[in-house]
Amino acid sequence: MNRSAYIVGTGHGVPERRLTNADLEKMVDTTDEWITTRTGIKERRIAGPEIANSDLSAIAAKAAMDAAGWQPEDVQAIIIGTVTPDYVFPNTAALVADMLGLGHIPAYDFEAGCSGFIYGLIQAKAFIESGMMDRVIVIGTDLLSRITNWDDRTTCVLFGDGSGAVAVSSEGPGARLGGFHWGSDGSVGEHLIQVAGGSRRPPSRETVEANLHTIQMDGSRIFKHAVRAMRDSCLLALEMDGTSKNEVDLLISHQANLRIIDATARALDLQPEQVYINIHKFGNTSAASIPIALDEAVRDGTIRDSSTVVLAAFGAGLTWAGIILHW
Ligand code: ACO
Repeated sequence: MNRSAYIVGTGHGVPERRLTNADLEKMVDTTDEWITTRTGIKERRIAGPEIANSDLSAIAAKAAMDAAGWQPEDVQAIIIGTVTPDYVFPNTAALVADMLGLGHIPAYDFEAGCSGFIYGLIQAKAFIESGMMDRVIVIGTDLLSRITNWDDRTTCVLFGDGSGAVAVSSEGPGARLGGFHWGSDGSVGEHLIQVAGGSRRPPSRETVEANLHTIQMDGSRIFKHAVRAMRDSCLLALEMDGTSKNEVDLLISHQANLRIIDATARALDLQPEQVYINIHKFGNTSAASIPIALDEAVRDGTIRDSSTVVLAAFGAGLTWAGIILHW
């Protein structure tokens, strides 16, 4: 018998503190008008120094488990897409498993930039459809504020912190994980990069003084790649799914820039009300942006029974991914 994987619970966790465009006007040479018209962002959440990735991830995962009606012993693996783990090691997923009392289950982090959540869904789908597992937690989470150069107006206005999680099961009812597409192109990876801290440029006084531990991005180059990658990911995922554009009810895209989301929606011939937007509240939360939006859309009733939903992302790597959900 063919097995399927279903999202049966969603959750998210964001810090309380809001950083508005007006706040940023006092920090760098920018304006609310520039940020709003170029990106769609009005405010973002920033974690205080006492909050780490695992703290927000545990909140998101617990909410997803509660929504699914799962007890700690039900979870068979926990996987996290992030570029801002608590530590390089131990991995954040193992820490979250311990915080939630999940026992000695497989737990690991992986890195696919803002595409991390969809990469995680595709892994969970493989675990479940192969018969290897029945219940997996997938988390997309980042605290980009920790690696942002707060003197660089071209990047610091874009990012925020948060976590989103889903419970994925071999048993519905829920959202069946359908056709997907994922890819990467390392030849253009340097256009979005944290240069130092890895094995090529280990941390040193020099790397800290040169600000090489913060995000460096060629915004307009990334913009062009993003528009093409998001469009292609959606169309290839739909093709694998055997679903046509006019059967799509909702697009939940990575919330990086309103203009990129609009271009993706146009490629799918969608109306504005068929596109979920929360970038104005959270900015670009990297791997967390899609699962946060997904959780909001489930809880506010935007997603209904029998909705067909397209998720699409791109990010550092460069990476990209799309997947179709059938509610
Ligand atoms: N306030 C005011 N002016 C600014 C600001 C700012 N915050 N930032 C840049 N500018 C200026 C620039 O200096 C430039 O001025 P100039 O013309 O005098 O040189 C002008 O505004 C236009 O700059 P551009 O970079 O061309 O602006 P663009 O329209 O491309 O928008 C943006 C910039 C928002 C960064 C856009 O390129 C973008 O969204 N790119 C994609 C980013 C992205 O999605 N990354 C996702 C991955 S993130 C991850 O994976 C972690």
